[in-house]
Amino acid sequence: MWSIMVLLSLVLSINVDVSNGGVTSVYVRNPEPSIDMPLEAFPSPPGFNAPEQVHITQGDQVGRSVIISWVTPIKPNPNFVRYWEKGHHKHMARAITTTYRYYNYSSGFIHHATIRRLKYDTLYYYALGHGSVTRRFSFKTPPPVGPDVPYTFGVIGDLGQTYDSNQTIEHTVSNPKGQAVLFVGDLSYADHYPFHDSRRWDTWARFVEKSTAYQPWIWTAGNHELDLAPEIEENVPFKPFMQRYHVPYMASQSTSPLWYSIKRASAHIIVLSSYSAYGKYTPQYRWLEGELQRVDRSETPWLIVLLHSPWYNSNNYHYMEGESMRVMFESWFVQSKVDVVFSGHVHSYERSERVSNVQYNITNGLSVPAKDPSAPIYITVGDGGNIEGLANNFTEPQPRYSAFREASFGHAILDIRNRTHAHYTWHRNQDSEPVAADSLWLYNRYYYPEEENTGASTMV
Ligand SMILES: *[C@@H]1O[C@H](CO)[C@@H](O)[C@H](O)[C@H]1NC(C)=O
Ligand SMILES: *[C@@H]1O[C@H](CO)[C@@H](O)[C@H](O)[C@H]1NC(C)=O
Ligand SMILES: *[C@@H]1O[C@H](CO)[C@@H](O)[C@H](O)[C@H]1NC(C)=O
Ligand SMILES: *[C@@H]1O[C@H](CO)[C@@H](O)[C@H](O)[C@H]1NC(C)=O
Ligand SMILES: *[C@@H]1O[C@H](CO)[C@@H](O)[C@H](O)[C@H]1NC(C)=O
Ligand SMILES: [Fe+2]
Repeated sequence: MWSIMVLLSLVLSINVDVSNGGVTSVYVRNPEPSIDMPLEAFPSPPGFNAPEQVHITQGDQVGRSVIISWVTPIKPNPNFVRYWEKGHHKHMARAITTTYRYYNYSSGFIHHATIRRLKYDTLYYYALGHGSVTRRFSFKTPPPVGPDVPYTFGVIGDLGQTYDSNQTIEHTVSNPKGQAVLFVGDLSYADHYPFHDSRRWDTWARFVEKSTAYQPWIWTAGNHELDLAPEIEENVPFKPFMQRYHVPYMASQSTSPLWYSIKRASAHIIVLSSYSAYGKYTPQYRWLEGELQRVDRSETPWLIVLLHSPWYNSNNYHYMEGESMRVMFESWFVQSKVDVVFSGHVHSYERSERVSNVQYNITNGLSVPAKDPSAPIYITVGDGGNIEGLANNFTEPQPRYSAFREASFGHAILDIRNRTHAHYTWHRNQDSEPVAADSLWLYNRYYYPEEENTGASTMV
């Protein structure tokens, strides 16, 4: 009923507004406030100490390992996972179990089990809990890393737990294509509540379980993961996030879970932290410098970066917040021919042209983004639907670097076909799943650096 009301309240238009830059979609979604679903909408599953908040992510560099995480609310045991292939015997892996306190909140028992030496491209089942409170799930491992291995990623950002977030998740889950999810930061928005009410981390994890228990989500930290609250003596940045979401950072020689990389099928994915130091000589700077050298395009043609705060954003919200990181690293991205950078933070959708702004040297005045065939396309998908609502105030006129922008909630799909071609689509929540509000073919920067047709290909 609620979604029907939203649909009726939408204002549709068939015009597009073309400035000297790209396209600003004039599809207008009524900027109603986004309301969080009630705590009661996500109770613990039935049964004493039933495992809940199940989520998986890649557990190594190449996709033969999975980290399975879950929470038991009352007792730490059982703290193992059983997993098996159909018709084969069961294996068992024990978890690392932790708890944390945040102001007056005490977490349940948080378990992280890494299961290793899995077969590629294979369906696995796994079970948590025991007796009548056993819960079963499954996932499929990726094919071996290789240059022409097709693979499809969903891309989501700034999700939160509103009724709009629910639409984003329903769309993502019902889209049969996405095999893993690239998540660009800002998960639960628990910090929106007094004392950063960590119960909202629990409800969020229950809310997304229908996706995260079956598909690996690749995690990026956003500002809403900081949970810094000196007024209640919570001074450890990223505390709930890092307790709850483990990532395989050591497998990529990183010293922090906030920046790391994985390879999956034909993609090398680098995750950066917008809210950790990245100046010269910092650990993140040094790691990225080395990591870009380790990328082997003959093995993984597609080089993808995830970071929270966008470098090319023509929205008045969070305008230029990503600028200092852009200044530090953009020339490296151009030299390394990064294919695409996904960001969140700004609660709307935007896709850039292939541009760079790396010529400026204080005295030469060359400070305008210029077309650059070696540059990534920058895509902002901070449009998962969180409680802060839409960022619907774009700068005018639309700058030339901005190819397409629209203030709507949605998610994206990156469908890698082979070493040269990937099909990219963005789906707004109000459309039925097969409709793409923005789409284009991406050409690989290393193997096929041709100019793409970046014009708005499908418009309402
Ligand atoms: C935490 O403190 C707040 C504010 O005093 C209170 O409303 C809440 O009930 C407390 N929660 C717990 C678990 O004690
Ligand atoms: C979330 O969306 C699903 C599918 O439309 C619906 O069944 C469910 O009731 C929604 N959840 C809430 C809390 O509204
Ligand atoms: C800055 O760029 C200008 C023009 O490209 C060049 O002549 C000048 O030498 C550069 N300055 C420095 C310090 O590199
Ligand atoms: C949009 O942002 C600009 C610049 O921050 C501000 O001056 C203007 O008032 C904003 N407009 C609306 C409708 O919020
Ligand atoms: C790569 O995929 C694209 C899109 O499906 C296709 O047109 C192209 O022929 C493929 N290249 C090779 C070498 O198969
Ligand atoms: Fe953010």
